[in-house]
Amino acid sequence: MNNDILKVCFSENDILEITKRLGKEISKDYEGKTPMLICLLKGAVPFMSDLCKQITIPMTQEFLKVSSYHGGTASSGIVNVRGDIPEVKGKDVILVEDILDTGRTLALVKKLFLDKGAKSIKICVFLDKPEGRVNDMRADYIGAICPNEFVVGYGLDYNELYRNLPYVGVLKEEVYSK
Ligand code: IMP
Ligand code: MG
Repeated sequence: MNNDILKVCFSENDILEITKRLGKEISKDYEGKTPMLICLLKGAVPFMSDLCKQITIPMTQEFLKVSSYHGGTASSGIVNVRGDIPEVKGKDVILVEDILDTGRTLALVKKLFLDKGAKSIKICVFLDKPEGRVNDMRADYIGAICPNEFVVGYGLDYNELYRNLPYVGVLKEEVYSK
């Protein structure tokens, strides 16, 4: 699996530093509140797990199944929400996402929870790809800016594979032509 990686963009150590910084910021900003962190499945699972360990105030966890990519590296443009939707009425929600690319996923999910009566909604993404954006979606907490390339690892997949890599990297060209 490691042999399929052309270059590492964010190492395990980079990831630890990022989650520590974001955990500190969130703990400070939400002092006196109990935010509800909603993890977008499946990609944001490792990030959610590491981030929560760095948050030092009371908080709750929820999960929402969202899919936007259907095969390969091309975005379908269609975003689907499936399964149970967390009860957010009156809650200070923080959406936790692996990567903000076109912005379609977070635009849809943010609207969904605003309509369901969330008191506030902020967005926390591990990676931001500003060049991919098709709308004005912006994140409140950003781990790092991602090079404008398709990346895998730390929850991010290529055809459901590579999510278990402990770092983020770019795949070798030959992997796509397999
Ligand atoms: P968008 O912002 O709606 O385009 O979609 C973000 C979603 O697309 C993320 O949750 C990822 O699942 C997926 N995605 C975008 N860029 C990448 C990438 O470089 N590697 C893997 N998945 C990606
Ligand atoms: Mg995703």
